[in-house]
Amino acid sequence: MIAIACDHGGLDIKNAIIKSLEEKGIEYKDFGTYTSDSVDYPEYAYKAAKAVAEGECEKGIICCGTGIGVCIVANKVKGIRAATVTNEFCAEMTRRHNDSNVICMGGRVIDEATAVKLTDIFLSTPFDGDRHTKRVDMIKEIESKE
Ligand code: RB5
Repeated sequence: MIAIACDHGGLDIKNAIIKSLEEKGIEYKDFGTYTSDSVDYPEYAYKAAKAVAEGECEKGIICCGTGIGVCIVANKVKGIRAATVTNEFCAEMTRRHNDSNVICMGGRVIDEATAVKLTDIFLSTPFDGDRHTKRVDMIKEIESKE
């Protein structure tokens, strides 16, 4: 189960991603927003990030205008490693090296086809483990002390 959310700035790419998930038979839970009315992105990003942190969803995809605001919010939630991605290399590497469980994208930065492509890469790329396990564990250790 994939958590997905957006604000008005990320609505179009979120809808394109949802269409693609449906075509591929991937289950998702949509935490809104559902219209182009202006809303406050922290509300939606927090809901999706919580669903991932609590295990209701395995990974999350959160969109806003830049992909930055929602990423800041998601990373406030314990257990979330969120990354804003704008290209295929970063979508792949944040899985392989950071074991990211949320990606964030901006509807004013990338087009719909790119958002779908980056989602596919994020969902299909495994964590490399090895030396990266130690580094991700260091992130968890820092988080536990904060
Ligand atoms: C909304 O105008 C915009 O600020 C939001 O979508 C996002 O880009 C924030 O980081």
